[in-house]
Amino acid sequence: KKKINIAIDGPAAAGKSTISRRIAERMDYIYIDTGAMYRAVTLHVIRHGRQVLDDLDDLDIRFGTGGTTLYLNGEDVSEDIRTLEVTSNVSEVSSVPEVRRYLVSMQQKIAEDKGVVMDGRDIGTTVLPEAELKIFMKASPEIRARRRLKEEEARGVEIDLETLTTQIIRRDDLDMNREISPLSKAHDAVLLDTSHMGITEVEDKIIKMASDLL
Ligand code: C5P
Repeated sequence: KKKINIAIDGPAAAGKSTISRRIAERMDYIYIDTGAMYRAVTLHVIRHGRQVLDDLDDLDIRFGTGGTTLYLNGEDVSEDIRTLEVTSNVSEVSSVPEVRRYLVSMQQKIAEDKGVVMDGRDIGTTVLPEAELKIFMKASPEIRARRRLKEEEARGVEIDLETLTTQIIRRDDLDMNREISPLSKAHDAVLLDTSHMGITEVEDKIIKMASDLL
């Protein structure tokens, strides 16, 4: 049975992970959240200092089945990688060349056998330039902040809309303007503005595009 790779990129809180996870589930593909990998390295730096970046090969990053649980050296850090502290520092850590080199090669290995839905910032441009289907999701900062606010409230995190908006805009700015593989749309990616689309609508659209390739 033919399998493809699907690359989903876009700015912070565009709904990439929710959509990607659901698509992977429906297609019986593997879901890889590359943002979680950058967050894990950032958590490791916060805990142990920047010298850990000299020895990235010692770092064991693994996903549990379904792709939502993340293990860092055997420890479940799925919640710890979502704190404000990690979110505020992740863009800086992910601009370090060694960090990108290490994680990109790991991501490419995971996708070798196809059947992967991978979301991030540079998947279509750098990690999987040969992916059969590339999506670039966008939505206005206000709408993304409002969606993220709902998620944070559901997790019991107290944060206001203005702080979230500022945070999202700052992170996009850093991600779009870094030296190595910045956030950008691959020339052959399909642009999806999800500002006024529901989750299932976006999901169905991508599933349809994928089915046409199978
Ligand atoms: O997707 P998420 O918002 O969890 O990503 C966290 C951060 O990880 C991004 O803001 C970005 O700095 C970095 N990242 C990256 N390349 C990717 C995925 C995420 O640089 N492919």
